[in-house]
Amino acid sequence: MSFEHTHLLGIEPLAPHDITTILDLADQYADRGRSAAKYGTALAGLTQINMFFENSTRTQASFELAGKRLGADVMSMAMQASSINKGETLIDTAMTLNAMHPDLLVVRHPHSGAVDLLAQKVNCAVLNAGDGRHEHPTQALLDALTIRRAKGRLHRLNIAICGDIAHSRVARSNIILLGKMENRIRLIGPPTLMPAGIAEFGVEVYDDMKQGLEGVDVVMMLRLQRERMDGGFIPSEREYYHRYGLDAEKLAHAAPDAIVMHPGPMNRGVEIDGELADDLRRSVIQQQVEMGVAVRMAAMDLLARNLRKRAPMESVMA
Ligand code: NCD
Repeated sequence: MSFEHTHLLGIEPLAPHDITTILDLADQYADRGRSAAKYGTALAGLTQINMFFENSTRTQASFELAGKRLGADVMSMAMQASSINKGETLIDTAMTLNAMHPDLLVVRHPHSGAVDLLAQKVNCAVLNAGDGRHEHPTQALLDALTIRRAKGRLHRLNIAICGDIAHSRVARSNIILLGKMENRIRLIGPPTLMPAGIAEFGVEVYDDMKQGLEGVDVVMMLRLQRERMDGGFIPSEREYYHRYGLDAEKLAHAAPDAIVMHPGPMNRGVEIDGELADDLRRSVIQQQVEMGVAVRMAAMDLLARNLRKRAPMESVMA
């Protein structure tokens, strides 16, 4: 098993074998998570600090749980109440925390590139928990593990990513990951929600759900990310649901065993029918959450192994 990275900032810098290494280890953690022996010691003696400058439910909870299950000392900063609101810059906050010698820093930030910048200023392992519309690597990895477990493989699948692609770091990281693993990707959504120049990524683009979903193995739905929109991108939510919301009728165009995914938070009746989201025969949304913990355990474990290689821990008592 080899994973020669200091940080996990995005999917872009990872090679296919890095992705497989993380998923293989996460697979073991996922199995272990279902047993009584959930806890391990891979992060024992290490300090993990979570800094979320943007709201989060599942990602933050999942990183926190992952750290605790592996024995780290985990601290989640309440960024709303931090000195950022007193005018301190991101870098100053990071330098302050760095002086406390954390080993793992988990960061979510509304600006694309902010996490990469921060990683250059600190001397611990940094994990990107989502930066603007840039990357959300652990989300793409947990999606990949969910797909691999449901379909038995992670290559040569037809995968549709639907909805607000333009504002979505989840879509971006998934397009990169699924492309590296040699899948066929279709993007479906209104032209106003497609990023410019997207066809250069080797994807097929559709603005009609029924056409786009024809025969696909995986349907990944995305939320309309209104907090990143600065104008009217869609006529109305009702109209949007009618054209792009996933319901049983549209799903009937996909392969009969197609799975339905959503990273959450979900807006029922906007991008997805509530009943379909809850239909355990099709929806793997709860598995995605479960795989999230396992993937974050694996990612932090692999980064911690590299930390220990670079700087073996000394005893203050020696
Ligand atoms: C996503 C995010 O924050 O990028 N959610 C998540 O991490 N599970 C998607 C979203 O906000 O719509």
